[in-house]
Amino acid sequence: MIKINRRTFIKAAAVIGGGFFAGCGFEKNSAEKLNVENLRQIISAGSSNSRCIMWRTDSPLKNPAVEVKLKNSSNVMKFSAIDSTFTDDGEEIFQYTANIKNLSPDSNYEYRIFDGESFTDFFELKTSSDKKFKALIFPDSQSADYDVWGEVAKTAFEKNPDAEFFINVGDIVDNGEDKNQWRAWFEKVSEQMKKIPFAPVMGNHETYSRDWQIRFPTAYINYFAVPDNGVENFSRRFYSFDFGAAHFVILDSQWDELEQFQPNLIETQKNWLREDMQKNSKTWNIAFIHRDVLQYRINGRPERQEGFSDVGVNFMPEFENLNFDAVFTAHLHTYRNRGRLKNFREDETGTLYILTGLAGDVRYSNLWADHALDKVIAPQPEIDNYLTLEVDEKNLSVKCFLHDGSQIDEINLTKEV
Ligand SMILES: [Fe+2]
Repeated sequence: MIKINRRTFIKAAAVIGGGFFAGCGFEKNSAEKLNVENLRQIISAGSSNSRCIMWRTDSPLKNPAVEVKLKNSSNVMKFSAIDSTFTDDGEEIFQYTANIKNLSPDSNYEYRIFDGESFTDFFELKTSSDKKFKALIFPDSQSADYDVWGEVAKTAFEKNPDAEFFINVGDIVDNGEDKNQWRAWFEKVSEQMKKIPFAPVMGNHETYSRDWQIRFPTAYINYFAVPDNGVENFSRRFYSFDFGAAHFVILDSQWDELEQFQPNLIETQKNWLREDMQKNSKTWNIAFIHRDVLQYRINGRPERQEGFSDVGVNFMPEFENLNFDAVFTAHLHTYRNRGRLKNFREDETGTLYILTGLAGDVRYSNLWADHALDKVIAPQPEIDNYLTLEVDEKNLSVKCFLHDGSQIDEINLTKEV
């Protein structure tokens, strides 16, 4: 029989764990409680084996780190956090970011934050698998009163406890500099963000200053440490990640606003998108971009013609050439399913384009005229909605629900594998 002492056990656990070993976490349960705010999981490029954890505190931490262990295990991996503190809207946000690596696919983990002798509780962390998954998609949540966002999110999460991550398609807040709006938005999904990762999309409202001028989206960029796109000077502006059988691409449609800070977003992004898709071998390709691909007529403004927006003109050919199955947009605060399009017209071999609706209290009642390519339109005037996305190797299903959980649309795509 091999005798194992504590020193040998620690070394063995460190090798198995892949992080660096911090000792058995259960020994420290009597330690002082650490209070953190806005604790959140952010999607990572490889969701089956990694995760980004971020949080903020009222005052600086000395040795911030994250402990991760398989559920019901005592083998703990420790990951140091970096100080990602930033200043915006007149406030210094003490914030920390840890990149969790070397996880096993399809596994249930637990994690907690610690600093010296003080710890938070443990929270769930589940890695993705090759099996069917479900994600929640929320359109613009920008609001005057974030209770409305809170209600639609509450219904969506209660009815979909099996959702493995969630996306907001941009205009997360109404004013991107307003620290109180960010706090209100985070507060409404604070329990969910601890448990499942969030994939953000930047909208134009993330680029607005307190006095409603254009500014660099400092808060958005700092709050969400999304996967590195490898493009100098465009860090966190656009990115991609894999989840199950799907490859997701998140794009930035704010070239008008942000040209003054970094020019050539359209061409830079197109080049990156082509390279990114060359490396991709997933069955399903799904893109998100805040501004819509179509241009709508506006009721009462007959001079504005129906057609395609500059997002559509620039990126629909890319999406279709690169074999994207579905593209989700937002910005217009109305749900419209346009079916599958190719070469700017209906085509059953084309890409599915969904304009996702709204999930806040900013409503554009009776503003948009219908577009000839609209197939399904949410009941008018618009009220809040959310979507589910379910994907496995053969099937992709999108469902749209109103804020009370009633379903108004369903689209199913299939592939022969
Ligand atoms: Fe917008």
